[in-house]
Amino acid sequence: MPIEWDAATREIHLHNGRVSHVMRVLDNGWLGNLHFGRPLAPGRSYAHLGPAAFTGFSNRPADPVALEYPVTGSGDYRVPAIVVEQPDGSTLLDLVYVGHRIAAGKPAPDALPSTYVEDPAEADTIEIDLADGPSGLRATLAYTIFRDLPVVARSVRLRNDGTAALRVRTAMSASLDLPDAEWILVQLSGAWARERHVVERRLTPGRASVSSERGASSAQHNPFIVLRRPATTEEAGEACGLGLVYSGDFLAEVEVDSFGTTRARMGIDPTHFAWTLEPGGELVLPEAVLAWSDEGLGALSDAYHLLFRERLARGKWRDTLRPVLVNNWEGTYFDFTADRLVAMAEVAAGLGIELFVLDDGWFGLRDDDDSSLGDWHVDRRKLPGGLEDVGRRIEALGMRFGLWVEPEMVSRRSRLFEAHPDWALGIPGRPRTEQRRQLVLDMSRPEVVDHLHAVLSEVFASAPISYVKWDMNRYMTEAYSTALPADRQGELRHRYILGVYDLHARLTAAFPGILFESCASGGGRFDPGMLAFAPQGWTSDDTDAIERLRIQWGTSYAYPLSSMGAHVSAVPNHQVGRVTPLATRAAVAFFGVFGYELDTTALTEQERREVAAQVAFYKRHRDVLQRGRFVRLRSPFEGDGTETAWMAVSDDRRRAVVGAYRVLDRPYDGPSRLRLRGLDPALAYRVSPWPDGGDAVDRANARVRGGDDLMAAGLTLRVGPFDPVARADYGARIFALEAVEEA
Ligand code: GLA
Repeated sequence: MPIEWDAATREIHLHNGRVSHVMRVLDNGWLGNLHFGRPLAPGRSYAHLGPAAFTGFSNRPADPVALEYPVTGSGDYRVPAIVVEQPDGSTLLDLVYVGHRIAAGKPAPDALPSTYVEDPAEADTIEIDLADGPSGLRATLAYTIFRDLPVVARSVRLRNDGTAALRVRTAMSASLDLPDAEWILVQLSGAWARERHVVERRLTPGRASVSSERGASSAQHNPFIVLRRPATTEEAGEACGLGLVYSGDFLAEVEVDSFGTTRARMGIDPTHFAWTLEPGGELVLPEAVLAWSDEGLGALSDAYHLLFRERLARGKWRDTLRPVLVNNWEGTYFDFTADRLVAMAEVAAGLGIELFVLDDGWFGLRDDDDSSLGDWHVDRRKLPGGLEDVGRRIEALGMRFGLWVEPEMVSRRSRLFEAHPDWALGIPGRPRTEQRRQLVLDMSRPEVVDHLHAVLSEVFASAPISYVKWDMNRYMTEAYSTALPADRQGELRHRYILGVYDLHARLTAAFPGILFESCASGGGRFDPGMLAFAPQGWTSDDTDAIERLRIQWGTSYAYPLSSMGAHVSAVPNHQVGRVTPLATRAAVAFFGVFGYELDTTALTEQERREVAAQVAFYKRHRDVLQRGRFVRLRSPFEGDGTETAWMAVSDDRRRAVVGAYRVLDRPYDGPSRLRLRGLDPALAYRVSPWPDGGDAVDRANARVRGGDDLMAAGLTLRVGPFDPVARADYGARIFALEAVEEA
């Protein structure tokens, strides 16, 4: 059993040979942390790594105590995991160990998405009860260690066993104490159209945090951070990840105290949060997923990719290769008719594209973004035969049909808003702020969720719909619900997310064949919570190939290729105006769930031939590009950022696809090579440049070479000063590798 309890020393050790988490019930009953990270031998005591009890810093100034779920008010001045207001107004807690249970497998926390197991042998879970006598608060901390991954998933269940209501003001999903501060905080930050850029800062005394108070996890920061050692690289060194399976307001905070120790905490952002626990009431907090690696950031990402792809995503599409799609948004925006869509689909079908997605504008009277959200009935002016007719005509071309919806929103100009103005978030007596000319529905109200469930079920059943893009195009303002009493407004944002999850759960259960893709003005809610329902997400509204290098690189720190929607769009690019070669756009979009976002009827003959070849290439390597191991080779965030390279390798290491990109070419450079990783050194690989232009670089690479050679010396990116890496600015090269038997 990889979870040991030693009754004599009162130690708990979760171990699997890849990671160890050791805790101990201190003499005063608090749950101390002795170690998280490098695997330690089972069967030994590590009690010497922690003090006997928490005694307050004034008595033990050199010995700050590492704790699993720290409280506030009794001498630990670092950031707490929990703050609970009690009937007398005090917030001090004394959470002492009551008991624990160890079991094979992993229980599912109700109402919240989480990682899971399919067989109890895949993981073991310990639930530890801590209780505060005077208030009656019980905190049950659950820790699951996965057998084959360096991962511990944590969740917390709060319960009021007392006789008076308690007000939970801060409740983190995880707190992690580390004995030194030699760490660099890595965060995935940005904005709309430049989501999840890698940002790093060295820890210094004080707090460093990323958070969202926008009602969604946001494009600005992602609920995922890494602490890495200064020397850690992609390939080597220690790194520790914390991810939150949640889509709403979050906080990820790291504090270095005056003794040079580090405390990280992650959970729902406390700024707007307050939850009343009536006697007998329970609150389950989102799951935090902690991982550890001493083989660099690459191995840390491997662990998250595997877990998120196989044991967070669920349903039929988890294991099914995803279709190559074309989406009409950038091709037509709101301006289309059924015939125009079918004409686009006809071309797409001829190019090998498998799914046609009808984006915004098919419902109500939506000719621009000023109306109709909430009115989920088809616009017969544009689609006289309804969705069913378009769907059937597209299916007759041998393609699947997909549809865009934005369930959580309402336009002021809509029948829904006319009928139910109180269904939109807002504070009575104050104006509602519009963003993108729309308001946010109050998803905390069960009747709103029920209504959306009914109308969307009708839409999804009304036509042959195989795919749904679930969008969410603004953040919250005036986050207030008239359905909640004044003293419960602090619950709104979490209840909203619970409503979103409820709707998702019901619709994915009712329509198991539909592939859901999440979207929030692109990557504004690209998080592990959404991944549990939608196995892929629209990574960013920014479809420019060069911008996408950074976006996809950063996103890949936590999220697998199978989760990243990546499309080729027209030039000049609609977000940044850049003109990049069609080949480069595809070479970037290959690394993800590939598709197109343009008007196929506008493609020239030459472009059609190119697109057909791209689609064929992607399909040939789709299993590697969607389910292979992603290896980051050259970072767009390092140096002058002009070179990026990455690759995907099949699990058996017999196949790989390498992408190498060069933003600006440079004259008269010396020879250059790209060392690969993750291949089998004992195998020989046929290297095929794609497309094979037959230039000096292609000729240098097109041969059979050993995996050892490819990893030690590498592919040739430049032969000499006159053989450019990229052939021009915004260049890319793709190489397919296949193991061959050597003669
Ligand atoms: C958002 C999405 C886009 C598109 C539009 C439609 O911006 O991110 O992909 O669906 O909405 O309004």
